[in-house]
Amino acid sequence: MSQPFSRHRRLRKTPAIRSMVRETILHKSDFIQPVFVTYGTNVKEEISSMPGVYNFSLDTMQAEIQEIVDLGIPAVLIFAVPEVKDSVGTGAYAQDGLVQQATRWIKANYPNLLVIADTCLCEFTDHGHCGVVHAHECDGHIEAEVDNDESLALLVKTAVSQAEAGADIIAPSNMMDGFVYAIREGLDAAGYKDIPIMSYAVKYASAFYGPFREAAQSAPQFGDRKSYQMDPANVREALREAESDVAEGADMLMVKPSLAYMDVLRAVRENFDLPLVAYNVSGEYAMVKAAAQNGWINERGIVTEMMLGFKRAGADMIITYFSKDVVRWLREEQ
Ligand code: PBG
Repeated sequence: MSQPFSRHRRLRKTPAIRSMVRETILHKSDFIQPVFVTYGTNVKEEISSMPGVYNFSLDTMQAEIQEIVDLGIPAVLIFAVPEVKDSVGTGAYAQDGLVQQATRWIKANYPNLLVIADTCLCEFTDHGHCGVVHAHECDGHIEAEVDNDESLALLVKTAVSQAEAGADIIAPSNMMDGFVYAIREGLDAAGYKDIPIMSYAVKYASAFYGPFREAAQSAPQFGDRKSYQMDPANVREALREAESDVAEGADMLMVKPSLAYMDVLRAVRENFDLPLVAYNVSGEYAMVKAAAQNGWINERGIVTEMMLGFKRAGADMIITYFSKDVVRWLREEQ
């Protein structure tokens, strides 16, 4: 006997039944909190386009890490804002570099907190590109060419120095071809066979990184990143990027940014079995914060929907500047 229509509302009637049929659950173990470390002492400087996010010197970082641990967030992603930058990003692979020092301190004091090291040169180069640049003039303007293979050697050095400092996971974000292969080989040769690589496999050349570049003072001084980061128009290319990273030995795949790329998250999820990470980037954070500060949106509601959206699209983990907030809200709901 066929029914005249379906009563979907039966399963929405009460909080208890809604909870019972809920398909996607947020858990604190899904979240990764980015942390920006800088030079000096007693520095805790708010990033103007990212309210609630700070540049910390190594001493003030300690309280931030304590807070993250107390909330039960399992992992941090470390970025650095160094005092000196040069053309080859020496600070990225210096033994006493900021990421290395922060990592050593965290692992000595909170051995169970996972430290993920972002492996890139752009925060450490004076030109702001993610690799070694050969600049030449073309029709009156300067063209920057990032040399792929020369950059790989420095990225391997960076990853190995981060592993030496105690990083649990290496997360290369530079978008050079072959970076997973090169870094895997380098880590293995240095005795770090068990350190996984979380590859920024699918990273678009995106305007959504604007506030991060303010935070890390890493905006390219000339040219742009379109010759190494992906064209926002492409999704089949994302599958080729992911495929080569898997073949080269990636342990986890990332899609970045997230909000405008939910279809890409879904496509990668459907085609690959590796753990999948969504990076909810700085511009996505800034938009929500700005609207919330104006009283135009309900921040908690909007952020929760975004996080559910990333997981529904296929993400297993989320890197977000909202991690501490979300985990606090989850705790309140219990
Ligand atoms: C380094 C890196 C960037 C981000 C993460 N790693 C900047 C960039 O590629 O310009 C952006 C993160 C964000 O916007 O939150 N390459």
